[in-house]
Amino acid sequence: MDRKEFMKAMTALGIISVLPKDILKAQTLNKKPMQKIDSTIQQILAYGIHAPSSHNTQPWKVKIEENKIKAFGDFQRRLPFVDPNNREFLLSISAFIETIDNAAMAIGNRLQIEPFLGLISADKELFSIEMKGNKQSSSIAKLSLIENRFTDRKNYNIGEMSKQDITNLQDLDRENIHFFSSNSPKGKIISDLQIQAFTKQSNDKSKQWELSDWLRFDKDQKEKSGDGLFPEMLGLNGLPKFVWYSFFNKKSANGNSFIKQGIKSAIEQVKHTSGFLVITSNSSENISIYESGRLYQKALLKCTELSIRNHTISQILEEEPMKNDISDNLGIKKPIQFIIRLGYSNQDGYGKHIRRSINSIII
Ligand SMILES: Cc1cc2nc3c(=O)[nH]c(=O)nc-3n(C[C@H](O)[C@H](O)[C@H](O)COP(=O)(O)O)c2cc1C
Repeated sequence: MDRKEFMKAMTALGIISVLPKDILKAQTLNKKPMQKIDSTIQQILAYGIHAPSSHNTQPWKVKIEENKIKAFGDFQRRLPFVDPNNREFLLSISAFIETIDNAAMAIGNRLQIEPFLGLISADKELFSIEMKGNKQSSSIAKLSLIENRFTDRKNYNIGEMSKQDITNLQDLDRENIHFFSSNSPKGKIISDLQIQAFTKQSNDKSKQWELSDWLRFDKDQKEKSGDGLFPEMLGLNGLPKFVWYSFFNKKSANGNSFIKQGIKSAIEQVKHTSGFLVITSNSSENISIYESGRLYQKALLKCTELSIRNHTISQILEEEPMKNDISDNLGIKKPIQFIIRLGYSNQDGYGKHIRRSINSIII
């Protein structure tokens, strides 16, 4: 069946009218059989894909069965070198679940989410998500927070965070959200450890090679792959962005000058940070990591609402010996799941999220 015949058949079946144009384009290009999906589920997923994930891997897949979404981890999208125990993998999927739940609430629906996290393996369903109807009023403001949240890797203004902003963030969960001003002794420890961990990781050939797999040197990949890290997302514009697209590739991203430049930027980033948010979990069990991933996305959405710029920095939690020492250094007894740079900025964000199509996450 060619594209014209396909469109004709779909129009006859009444499917085309409920599908956004970009999904339709992807469906016909990929030649996957078209699945008729409930329009509310489509809408919820369209927001869900805006969730944050390590290296923008978007390691989630879903199966749709009537009014149920079954969520899986996409094992092709793991990061075995920086994340050998799948901690960040689960945190990313959990942020996706939180985003879906938020979107459903914002469009006036309620979801029942059941996690199955005893074991995490390639083909195992991790979450069963059922729509529970309850059409209530919708909130456009909440939906735009999901779309407008973004990771800001640029330098922030010098200065303290507003006390009220920190209180608002900590009110999300007083037990698990901690804040350290950059000027405090513990804030200084985080800054120092971040530079040490970032430098160590950049000089680790396997980890740098793994990262470079997700660095995008071809503009066309925005449409083609819809994942990974583009220069705009890393805070590069103008000449540096031109240089990135013109002269760099996967191989040179593993070379000395690229690595040196990355370390230089990381030093500037911590210098231009007002404070660090540290998110802990109640235990190291998968179910607690899941709760932490959800809390993380709640905190990022709150930051977006309060115009607080944020940048998750995971190197301390990925590198030895920093990851073993950080809890003691900060006097925190619980497992640390996230460290996030915070601050304010007058600079623009990088623009629209780069994401895969809904079609490519449906199995
Ligand atoms: C578990 C996890 C760990 C992350 N670690 C880092 C990190 O170490 N450095 C960084 O720049 N961004 C980190 N991020 C942010 C992602 O890179 C970011 O969410 C992704 O590139 C998508 O971009 P967006 O947040 O602007 O939508 C992390 C995100 C998650 C969920």
